[in-house]
Amino acid sequence: MPLPNLPLLDTFGRRHNNLRISVTDRCNIRCFYCMPADTIKFLPRTAILSFEEIERVVAALAQVGVDKLRLTGGEPLVRTDIDRLVQMLKAIPQIREVAMTTNAVHLARYAEPLKRAGLDRLNISLDALTRETFVAITRRDVLDQVLAGIAAAQDAGFQRIRLNAVAIKGLTEAEVLPLARFALERNLDLRFIEFMPLDSDQAWSNEQVLSGQTIRELIEQEFGPLEEAPRTDPAQPAFDFRYAAGRGRLGLIHPVTAPFCDTCNRLRLTAEGKLRNCLFSLEEWDLREPLRRGASEAEILTLVRECVLAKQPGHLIGQQHFERPERTMHQIGG
Ligand code: 5AD
Ligand code: SF4
Repeated sequence: MPLPNLPLLDTFGRRHNNLRISVTDRCNIRCFYCMPADTIKFLPRTAILSFEEIERVVAALAQVGVDKLRLTGGEPLVRTDIDRLVQMLKAIPQIREVAMTTNAVHLARYAEPLKRAGLDRLNISLDALTRETFVAITRRDVLDQVLAGIAAAQDAGFQRIRLNAVAIKGLTEAEVLPLARFALERNLDLRFIEFMPLDSDQAWSNEQVLSGQTIRELIEQEFGPLEEAPRTDPAQPAFDFRYAAGRGRLGLIHPVTAPFCDTCNRLRLTAEGKLRNCLFSLEEWDLREPLRRGASEAEILTLVRECVLAKQPGHLIGQQHFERPERTMHQIGG
């Protein structure tokens, strides 16, 4: 008997319509907040879901209300022909939006094919505009490629491109104003995200988090007051602001100092097909095995519902009982 198409409600009444899909655990740079410098064991190719397998998961989830997708990694643009996956997912009728988070190193080459494939939105990681700081964070000297990637995305016609910068004490303070100016000049949205304990060196400590509040103060000293922008999507993690003095938008994401778990609507699929109900969840549900043995859509959805029903109210970062997940960011997908 087919399952009724009930939405994916968890035990706290949160409705899950948003799936983040990690398409690979590999990356061409090595941001210290996400990956180790070396000694990385990447998944073998056969362990990773094929595009067709991802499509089947999304088609199942689309039956129960998932309509928003984000492709992440690792770095999604290191997966060959990623624009083909975008096209496949856009063809699923219920899917309203397909977005991507990328480090933009390969974006100059991919911007046009992605636009043609129907990609709706791009988030680009850019933590610093000073070359030394960029290299200190990413351990690769590729700032020029990233800037070329951003320009190519604008030329290809992407609108409301968003830059994401991780806010790290001791590194980010000097980058806040240059990043804000860069974004304003180019009509890009900018978001700062507090550094979360998902680094593989396990070096994270509360003291390294540059808070959203401090960033707001730095910006206001230079650009004048920020006004809160109306929340268009209650599940969005960022607090959005407008510059009172003119155009431009700024977002602050405070997962550490002000968690937004109570409106979370996200599920995460790892590159090897494990479904997670939280960035910080300690449990995951394997979809690859049932997919590969030809399980029915109903069987997949039963696992998905189990995963959703097990979702905790929120994470406990900074509290005594916080337990880090074994996976680091590049193995989860951000
Ligand atoms: N803390 C905060 N944000 C992170 N990201 C990756 N690792 C972390 C972390 N430890 C974010 C970065 C990157 C995106 C893929 O995930 O903003 O742009
Ligand atoms: Fe690569 Fe993104 Fe991780 Fe940086 S944050 S190492 S760009 S996957």
